[in-house]
Amino acid sequence: MAPATDYMKMNDTEHAWLDCACEEMSALISQPDYNKRTAIDAITKLKVAMLLHYAEEEGIMKKVCYPHMRSHKRSHDYFLTKVSSFITNLTGASADLSGDDWTEMVRLLDNHVRSHDHNLAEFLSSTHETAPS
Ligand SMILES: [Fe+2]
Ligand SMILES: [Fe+2]
Repeated sequence: MAPATDYMKMNDTEHAWLDCACEEMSALISQPDYNKRTAIDAITKLKVAMLLHYAEEEGIMKKVCYPHMRSHKRSHDYFLTKVSSFITNLTGASADLSGDDWTEMVRLLDNHVRSHDHNLAEFLSSTHETAPS
């Protein structure tokens, strides 16, 4: 059993990694004629990190019967669908990615951490002396 504070620290570490992956991708696609293969690799790494992080969060929500799990998971699913569509676009015929779409997803991802994830952390610290391991 890890203390709830440890859960929050772990979450902060993983969120910082997601932020870092997003910044790397943003810097890459801001360059004219960026390398598409490099962009696909970068966004695929982000997707894998999201899959692992979301599975972990959803496992915790399930264990504690988190009352807002459905909407929280729906938000995770949105991001996974979105990054998958970016990968599809980059590998498709047009082989391009809308910078506006990307910026909007990063903004929503930041909002997710500040709202959904923050609320989960608050729930865990208020209802569980220790978070489920
Ligand atoms: Fe999260
Ligand atoms: Fe989340």
